[in-house]
Order: sequence, then structure tokens, then C-alpha cells
Amino acid sequence: MKNHIFNKSIISLSDISKEQLENILLITDKIKKGTINPNIDSKIIASCFFEASTRTRLSFETAIQKLGGKIIGFDNDGNTSSANKGESFIDSMKIIASYSDAIIIRHPIEGTARLASEISGIPVINAGDGANQHPTQTLLDLYSIYETQLSLNNLKIAFVGDLKYGRTVHSLIIALSKFSNNHFYLLSPKELELPNYLIELIELTNNTFSLVDSFDDIIPSTDIIYMTRIQKERFEQSEYTHLKSTFILEKSSLDKAKENLKILHPLPRVDELDVNVDETPYAYYFQQAKNGLYARQALVYMILNKEL
Ligand code: CP
Repeated sequence: MKNHIFNKSIISLSDISKEQLENILLITDKIKKGTINPNIDSKIIASCFFEASTRTRLSFETAIQKLGGKIIGFDNDGNTSSANKGESFIDSMKIIASYSDAIIIRHPIEGTARLASEISGIPVINAGDGANQHPTQTLLDLYSIYETQLSLNNLKIAFVGDLKYGRTVHSLIIALSKFSNNHFYLLSPKELELPNYLIELIELTNNTFSLVDSFDDIIPSTDIIYMTRIQKERFEQSEYTHLKSTFILEKSSLDKAKENLKILHPLPRVDELDVNVDETPYAYYFQQAKNGLYARQALVYMILNKEL
């Protein structure tokens, strides 16, 4: 397998080809099944979280330790770095790049990961930039879809919740649009509909979409339901209160589900996905989160090793 992502930054799904995605998923699968045991030879990765995280940060840190790498960095929303003293983002990235072999960055402002990649001179991995993209979440989402449906084509996938600000939705739709004959059901409050540029992208591909009004419209035919929380941190409080709890998935809604249905959620959940769904065979979000470990191991390994 040719490793086309060696020494590359991972900023947007728009920059990653279908073949590259398939190669990352293949390595993810081998790591999960234990058929390879990759190593990054003590390379140093800077983990820079300017915004809160549980899954992304801790799965990256676990992945790097399992790969034999070392981690430097900060979390606490960046409050423990010198950004707090007024250091510019550009200066911070130049300094951090001089200490490390790759940078993982989460930041509340769109475009910061791209900026970091342009000034750092080393590979940068976007761990979520504002409402824009979350490419490594997409890797584990794609892997979880493939693992449960045995295909990334010919699927009916419902995206539910905050489709406007939900960066995991944006990245996943771009990725799935590289495959064929998928139909995307879009279920959201009017105020939180999918941005136009993504609607236009779907229209340009071999995939289709429809706007729907309720779970009843989608449950009997859907293979994947991708739930998302309303992104509270991107709203005025009054608007958030008005929009939260618009679409809540409960166990009782799933009576007519297909046998192969799996429910995914990037997590954290708030109230949009009732805990009584956890006991159904359709719940897959905890396995999905665990897949983040394997997907991030695969990605870091491939970025830092030319020969696989
Ligand atoms: N899915 C996800 O990005 O979770 P965290 O915010 O906990 O990293």
C-alpha cells in the first residue's frame, strides 16, 4: 500500500481522497484486530486543546502511548499555555512545532488548524475547529459504519440535530459523498439546517438527500441514525433554550427499525438521545467512541511512517 498521507496535515475531508480514506480504514481494522502492532519510535506529538474534549484528547493520548510515542501539550482550553498571557497563536504554533514531530490541535475558531499547518512546517491534525470540521471523528465514524453495514455505499443515513454547527456532520457528509448511492435524511430544526455548501456538494455527487420532519419518516428504512447534540457553545443562551430538545430519540421510537440499524453519536450527548436507547441492539455509540482509539492510532502511525 502506498502511504500518501505520510508527513501530511489532516485538516479537512475535502483534502483527503477516497483511496486515502480506505487505506486509513484498512490500517484501523488491522490495529483493532491485532494483526499489526505499529510503532512511531518515541516521536513527540504536541496535543494542543484550546477547547474542551474528553474522547478526542484522551483517545489521541492513549493512541500515541500505544504507538510508543511521547506527548507534550496542554488542555484546560489553552488556559495553561502562554496564550493566556497574550502570546499570538502564530508564535505559539512556531514554538510548539520546534519541539515536536506533529501537532494535534482543537480550537473554537474555524480555520485555526489550517493556519497552524501553514506556519508550523510539521504535520498538523485538526481535532475540531469551531463549527467547521472534525476529520478524525469522521475516520472513526466511517469505520463504525463500515464495521456494522459492511459497506460505505448504498446506505440510508439519517443526520439528526444540529446540522448547521455540528462539525462532525459536516466532515462525515463530505467523506460519505466520495462514495456512491447513499441517501442522506436530514432532520433538524429549521434554524439548524445543513449549510448550503454541503447541500450543493451532495447534489454534485452520486448521492441524494431529503429533508424530513420526524423520526417516523426515517426509522423503517434507515441503516444508520447519526444523532448530534445542539452545539450550546455556538449560541446565545435564549436561542439555545428555544431549540434544545426539538428531536429526542427514545427506545419507543425504534419499534419499526430495520434489524441492521445502528445509532451513532459523536458524543457527548445531552438530552437528544435517551439513555433507554442504550439497552437496545441498535445502540453503537460507545463502540463507536472506542473505535476512535484505533482510528487515531492508524492516522498518527501513517502520518509519521513512510513505510507501513
Ligand atoms: N466526539 C468528540 O469530539 O468528543 P470530545 O468533544 O469529548 O472530544
